[in-house]
Amino acid sequence: MKAVFPGSFCPITIGHEDLVSRASKLFDEVIVLIMLNPEKEYIFSVEDRLSMAEKVFHKYSNVKIMTYEGLLADFVCENSIDVIIKGLRMPSDFEYENQMAMVNKKLSNGIETVFLIADEKFRSISSSMVRQIAFLHGEIKYFVPNEICDIILKKYKQD
Ligand code: PNS
Repeated sequence: MKAVFPGSFCPITIGHEDLVSRASKLFDEVIVLIMLNPEKEYIFSVEDRLSMAEKVFHKYSNVKIMTYEGLLADFVCENSIDVIIKGLRMPSDFEYENQMAMVNKKLSNGIETVFLIADEKFRSISSSMVRQIAFLHGEIKYFVPNEICDIILKKYKQD
């Protein structure tokens, strides 16, 4: 089975890595899909997000990285994806993701979304929190994979 794990990954957190690692054991192939939304302003460029994903996920042999601009449902149809994977950290995630799963199912003629419950250790971690800590010069190493600490710190030194 071929699964896709979509997100902004701006930046990747240790919570994302844990979910991808768990998904890689459940599915034959997992595509980490870096979504590009022209209406959204990302702190990290697509090149930076790709480079971070390559550094973190190269150790998982059945994980592939791709980028996509458009509807997730269209990507799913164009790439013969069997399942969308999403992580759930708290009840409010479910409220939103439940709606997204229904919309994606409708738009793609039936794609299923499989939810992985975030491990307790990672429930409080989000990319937006990491961005805020980095901006205020706090310690990010507890929240992001080691391989990408330098890229994140460099970005916030530049700005
Ligand atoms: O990491 P994020 O920002 O929480 O990821 C959200 C993402 C990219 C998975 C979500 O916004 C998405 O699927 N965007 C693609 C556009 C789309 O298909 N939207 C659903 C119909 S409104």
